[in-house]
Amino acid sequence: MKERIEQLGQQFRNSLLGVTDTESLEELRLQFMSKKGYITELMKELGKVPNEQKKDVGQMINTFKQEITDQFDRKKEELIRLQEEALIKGAESYDESLPTNDPNGSYHPITLVQRELEDIFESMGFDIEDYSEVVTDFECFEAVNIPPFHPARDMQDTYYLTSKDQLLKSHTSAAQNAILRKYGDDLKKKGRPIRAVFPGRCFRNEAVDASHDNTFFQMEGMMVDKDISISNLIYFMKTMLSEVFGREVTVRLRPGFFPFVEPGFELDIKCLNCGGTGCPSCGNSGWLELCPCGMIHPNVLKLGGINSDEDPFEYTGFAFGLGLTRLAMMKYGVRDIRTFNDCDLNALSQFVSR
Ligand code: DAH
Repeated sequence: MKERIEQLGQQFRNSLLGVTDTESLEELRLQFMSKKGYITELMKELGKVPNEQKKDVGQMINTFKQEITDQFDRKKEELIRLQEEALIKGAESYDESLPTNDPNGSYHPITLVQRELEDIFESMGFDIEDYSEVVTDFECFEAVNIPPFHPARDMQDTYYLTSKDQLLKSHTSAAQNAILRKYGDDLKKKGRPIRAVFPGRCFRNEAVDASHDNTFFQMEGMMVDKDISISNLIYFMKTMLSEVFGREVTVRLRPGFFPFVEPGFELDIKCLNCGGTGCPSCGNSGWLELCPCGMIHPNVLKLGGINSDEDPFEYTGFAFGLGLTRLAMMKYGVRDIRTFNDCDLNALSQFVSR
């Protein structure tokens, strides 16, 4: 029996080396673990073993079974990880040191990601809006429920301009008020829901390192109509992010504080690298923080001219803020955020538009 177990162990390990996909791994598992597999065969033979040896041989079979299960699990995790790495589109194609040979030039990676997202949102019925980089204090803060001296202003170390009350917009939420005003009439008179995304460059006085820059891109979105609820928000975010990543994503919401939404959430997706088991790219947590969002605060809708004091919940909606720069880093496997603003053409010209 002992030799037979050892021989089967060797056979399993040899076969495992040749396995390159989950289907053949499952076949191998069945050869050993199914009702007609080798383990069942061993258990049957155990019946013929003399009584005094039964305990030892039984234990050997159990240990063998456990070893096979462990090796199977490890191989499965490895295969899934490899599959998912390949799925993160383009991530493997980026090499900072590769010079460009394209005489026609190329688009900046953020432009490419922005355009791809715009196509997705357009197909979902969204209007795409552009907005100024210099905005007023009202637009950037007061209109989104952050009054003067509110502590939430400390969340964004803002560049103020010397003229009047202007500043470099520290988040794309600065366009929310203008969007609500632009589309509010169509909503109220024609019943056309507000659905808009507005990408833009944002500025904050950050200490610059591999993951922080003073200049970065966001893409904000809003949907407003009658009876919009958190269920709409969750369904929409899941559908939209599955489109963005080209595969079904699993989302979860955690509470998050942003003055312009109530309730506010941090939305995480299950890590695309490891599928949730934990790996370096998700800090071993299995989840990636991706997109803050929430139900638009009644004050924001009121200031945008959507609801009156009499009925502050006549129209409701959700908003979200996608980190475009972060998405581009994930999509192309760019590890240092400074690459985007460094003007190094070798690095930046590899993302040629299809
Ligand atoms: N403006 C926020 C920031 O830059 C991001 C954000 C959070 C936007 C929640 C939203 C939202 O629309 O609902 O930190």
